Amino acid sequence: MTRKPLIAGNWKMHKTVGEAVDLVQALLDGLGDVADREVLVCPPFTALASVRPLLADKPIALGAQNMFYELQGAYTGAISPIMLRDVGCSYVIIGHSERRQYFGDDDAMVNRKLKAALANDLRPIMCVGESKTQRDAGHAESIVTAQVRAGLADITAEQMQSTVIAYEPIWAIGTGDTATPDDAQAMHAAIRRTLVELYGAEVAESMRIQYGGSVKPDNADELMAQADIDGALVGGASLKADQFLRIIQFR
Ligand code: 13P
Repeated sequence: MTRKPLIAGNWKMHKTVGEAVDLVQALLDGLGDVADREVLVCPPFTALASVRPLLADKPIALGAQNMFYELQGAYTGAISPIMLRDVGCSYVIIGHSERRQYFGDDDAMVNRKLKAALANDLRPIMCVGESKTQRDAGHAESIVTAQVRAGLADITAEQMQSTVIAYEPIWAIGTGDTATPDDAQAMHAAIRRTLVELYGAEVAESMRIQYGGSVKPDNADELMAQADIDGALVGGASLKADQFLRIIQFR
């Protein structure tokens, strides 16, 4: 089973509209051949509409960093899946550890958002990952696989075809402290075993599991070479065109 790797940039709370347009243009200018991989950028909400026309018919998909699960209504400050579709998004990041930490997204919220994304033709990237304390206590695998099970509650095998999982150890995010390729591979294999239990081998083998957490030009090749790592969810290094282009062109 060959899985097309997905290299995604999570810009987090960075870039004004003008800066976002410049970055996307620089990525397009330097992109090269990406036939055997998929590329995605996730700018802040405010830049989505301005970036969209640049990406028309181009091999870079557009995604959002979060959404609410209701379609519309009195939810001040929230953005719905319909709005994301309307502005050209095909992907949405759900349950990022920063959402869990600062905005109270828990597994039940992640599951509701996942269902709403899938019901509205958005491909969710569901983030899971353990803290340093949890890893040091030897609980990393049980924590992460429990997040996978809870987040995917009531999601069908068919819906899994549109779902991506991102393993992002919290201690590796924004720290320059990447998981070793072996440790990352071990966790990705554990996640895939969980998917086999939930959905059977065929679905599990077809699913992409991204790694995120201090992915940089100088460690991307080694991480992407691991059997169960099917792409990267890149934070800081996705904000600089030359760095993100090099990660996209991992070999
Ligand atoms: P960094 O690449 O900055 O560590 O961020 C990773 C991340 O959180 C991507 O979603």
